[in-house]
Amino acid sequence: GGMVMKRLEDYVRSIPDFPEEGIIFRDITSVLQDADGLALAIDSMQKCLEEMDVDVIVGTESRGFIFGVPIAYNLHKPFVPVRKKGKLPCETISEEYDLEYGSSVIEMHKDSIKPGQKVAIVDDLIATGGTVEAAVKMVEKLGGEVVKIVFLMELAGLHGRDRLKGYQVESVIRYEGK
Ligand code: PRP
Ligand code: MG
Repeated sequence: GGMVMKRLEDYVRSIPDFPEEGIIFRDITSVLQDADGLALAIDSMQKCLEEMDVDVIVGTESRGFIFGVPIAYNLHKPFVPVRKKGKLPCETISEEYDLEYGSSVIEMHKDSIKPGQKVAIVDDLIATGGTVEAAVKMVEKLGGEVVKIVFLMELAGLHGRDRLKGYQVESVIRYEGK
């Protein structure tokens, strides 16, 4: 008998052939809908920022918001959203990045990062790394310094880290495949 502690990876649901054949979709809704899973996910990601000097948490729409905001709240730091094109009402900078088919554009408010601020970027997943690479570029254009990039999950087989060379990148769960 005795209690068996569940690990974070036990909460992630893997769906074969979604959204298309040959892809294993790593679903975070099964993490979020369990109170222990949710707490473990946020605590584990936040641990990656322990003892670090960070001024701002940046999260990418939309799954990056789910984890970025509670971490910012816990650390009592501001949260800055990276949004998909056309959503932000004030002056923005934008960055284009590649998707499997075509490309997409994400934006940040120009006044969201002050020059010299130390920034941690948070997202649920690194696949090709394109999303967060674009976020890094924008933060740096605004004069911010990216001191850490934290993911809940990493699809190591897609080598997204290669696009983030020179940065401190940490993921809580690493999947060897794609
Ligand atoms: C997913 C995921 C990451 C990104 C990872 O977001 O949440 O942000 O893709 O892929 P990449 O490393 O190849 O860029 P998606 O664009 O599906 O949008 P969502 O967060 O709004 O679901
Ligand atoms: Mg996303």
